[in-house]
Amino acid sequence: MKIRSVKGNLCKIKDEVVVLGFFEGKKSLSKKVLEINSSMDSLIKKVISTGDFKGKYNQKKLLYAVKGITSKRILLAGLGKEKEFTLDKLRGVIAGCAQSVCNTGIKSFSVPVSFAEKMKKDTKDRVCAIVEGAVLGLYKFDQYKSKNKDSNNNEIKQITLVAETEKELKEVKREVKKAETVCEAVCLARDLVSSPGNTATPTYLANRAKSVARESRLACRIIDEKGAKKLKMGAFLSVAQGSDQPARFIVLEHKPRRAQSFKTVVIVGKAITFDSGGISLKPPENMQEMKTDMSGGAAAIAVLKACSKLDIPVHVVGLIPATENMPSGKAIKPGDVVKSMSGKTIEIISTDAEGRLILADALTYSKRFKPDAVIDMATLTGACIIALGNDVSAIMGNSNEIIDKIKASSEKTGEKVWPLPLWEEYGELIKSDIADLKNVGGRAAGTITAGYFLKEFAGDLPWVHIDIAGTAWTNKDKPYVPKGASGVCVRLLVNMLENWK
Ligand code: BES
Ligand code: ZN
Ligand code: ZN
Repeated sequence: MKIRSVKGNLCKIKDEVVVLGFFEGKKSLSKKVLEINSSMDSLIKKVISTGDFKGKYNQKKLLYAVKGITSKRILLAGLGKEKEFTLDKLRGVIAGCAQSVCNTGIKSFSVPVSFAEKMKKDTKDRVCAIVEGAVLGLYKFDQYKSKNKDSNNNEIKQITLVAETEKELKEVKREVKKAETVCEAVCLARDLVSSPGNTATPTYLANRAKSVARESRLACRIIDEKGAKKLKMGAFLSVAQGSDQPARFIVLEHKPRRAQSFKTVVIVGKAITFDSGGISLKPPENMQEMKTDMSGGAAAIAVLKACSKLDIPVHVVGLIPATENMPSGKAIKPGDVVKSMSGKTIEIISTDAEGRLILADALTYSKRFKPDAVIDMATLTGACIIALGNDVSAIMGNSNEIIDKIKASSEKTGEKVWPLPLWEEYGELIKSDIADLKNVGGRAAGTITAGYFLKEFAGDLPWVHIDIAGTAWTNKDKPYVPKGASGVCVRLLVNMLENWK
């Protein structure tokens, strides 16, 4: 799909569809829409006065053969109440328009940059939201479907953003390019997460990381099990030992090319390519969804790709411990004690609490980069879904500064986060009788005790953990996240790194 930007008059755009927004309950049309309205014999006003189109959020009306304009159709899109309109609603409404155009079998459409113009957001944010809404809303994962002629192969080939002035056009072009790069990264994360576990093994992820590195000028190092043994990554290897698939510890590195001095930020992503639970086997219902237990790792690879493509002036390191979690005669068992890379010993209570084990060694490994910040993303606990549901990720850590940065980016990207506390009382719950720590603290505060476990390994690193168990995958369509992998945290962390000071 091509996204182009042009300068021009909306009435003279030759395209299949021009999309126009309208706020609910507005007596007057916005300046731009009014102009078009008058050149098309007040058709928009007429449609509104019939009461057929009220501008309710996501309401749509397709108008044909409209006099006075050169586009074949106009798609009126309801924006809802102006007071309630946000950037995220803009993404959603554009996604809805793109999907409805696509489902009609139409191949292209145009959107004015002034779409929803009364919203007090600058052009940059608006253009970015329009591109994200369209690209992310039209995302499909169909690599595993055999092509068949009867199937609905509708695909949008071109989207045109229509700017008003030369000056605006320049800004729009720059922003479109950037937004496309970020969306490409989100789609990479979605593809990796959606890929079945028999394809997306640790070796596969490592190979994909290598090819991403080659294309995007990232440094890449793959540590195999022998290397991990040398590094004494005992917690990581204890999870891997039950699987026939060899584990891989992926290291990606973006060194800024423009900036002279820069901070170092390490991004850690949990990549359990399939989480069966191990000997503490999971119940069979929905176990297939545990192919998504590498969503943190996929997001980390995607963030690094975007950082390099955008040449973000921060030294960003991605650490992705990748392994399956399987039961076997060689697998770790409840009651086993393992020694982590940090030297801390861990009593295994449940082999299903494996994410924190592989992250523990990744956090220890991160210390060699002397980072200014470490952020980990993980589908870590089912309890996170109980606490916050499927639209909000949990954040916790030892650095309010980083938490504030994440919150600020979250406001921009629409990926909701909510903080949980890591008070010392929670630490009591993961004290072991025979080892330094145990990997499960009981049912109470399951997301926090998992976070506290990580905190013990972060030590004095400025660190934040994001639990994406509820947000990485969706079983129902969301406005610009079709059913399936969401690619959560990619836009969030790219935005945070872009604005890092
Ligand atoms: N990968 C799961 C967490 C998860 C659950 C992610 C549902 C996405 C959706 C994790 O490894 C796990 O199994 N956690 C256990 C921890 C428990 C044994 C303390 C859990 O949440 O049940
Ligand atoms: Zn598990
Ligand atoms: Zn897991």
